[in-house]
Amino acid sequence: MRQNFVAGNWKMNLTLPEAQALTSEIVQMLHDEPTSVPAPQVVLCPPFPLLLAVGRLLGESGNPALGAQNFHEKESGAYTGEVSARQLHSVGCQYVILGHSERRQHFREDDALLAQKLKTALAAGLKPIFCVGESLETREANETFDFIGQQLAAGLFHSSKEELSQVVIAYEPIWAIGTGRTASSQQAQEVHAFIRGQVAAAYDAQVAADTTILYGGSCNAQNARELFSQPDVDGGLIGGASLKSRDFVEIIKSF
Ligand code: PGA
Repeated sequence: MRQNFVAGNWKMNLTLPEAQALTSEIVQMLHDEPTSVPAPQVVLCPPFPLLLAVGRLLGESGNPALGAQNFHEKESGAYTGEVSARQLHSVGCQYVILGHSERRQHFREDDALLAQKLKTALAAGLKPIFCVGESLETREANETFDFIGQQLAAGLFHSSKEELSQVVIAYEPIWAIGTGRTASSQQAQEVHAFIRGQVAAAYDAQVAADTTILYGGSCNAQNARELFSQPDVDGGLIGGASLKSRDFVEIIKSF
């Protein structure tokens, strides 16, 4: 279902007390302050050891929902140090980030692995937030659309229509992540419209119209409104600004 949507990717940040304080503040502010109607879907994605504690503070309402940042592609077994999708689901996760550029880059996650992980996540009942995005080099070579088309085709479009309906897509230009350099709302809209067009071509117009597509990359309380006002931008995947309760809630209020 297409909906206004904001997910916070905490990455490898915060201790348990810090995570509890941040979560409580976000829950309280969202309780006290009006958001657009219907309320945007909010997801918090803490590191593994903090999931249970954050989940307890979020409660059972499903909004904010709990999400994870990663999992192993196999269902279970002798993979010391790894975490399975079913384990995440069993501790209350509804969403999981997949294909983030930091995992593609630093952990060599390629399209084939991501395709496998997508299946594993869906089988465990997790909704993937599937990330795509080009490097500065790719953008400057005018290859952005080809590159993202390829990421979508290889990593995502093997899914059935029913599977795709469980997926949120996030466009995160690598050059904008953590750099303070945001894509302009026009640059974001252009790529979002392209992604929606690719979904329409691979499935159909209805599936495309129902797909939630997020922007990520230095999105903050100052630029969120402009970005979210674009017709094909349904919300954001927020890194740095999701670690500050006031900033994160202002972003959620930007629809
Ligand atoms: P940023 O990160 O908001 O800190 O740029 C976004 C992300 O990596 O998801």
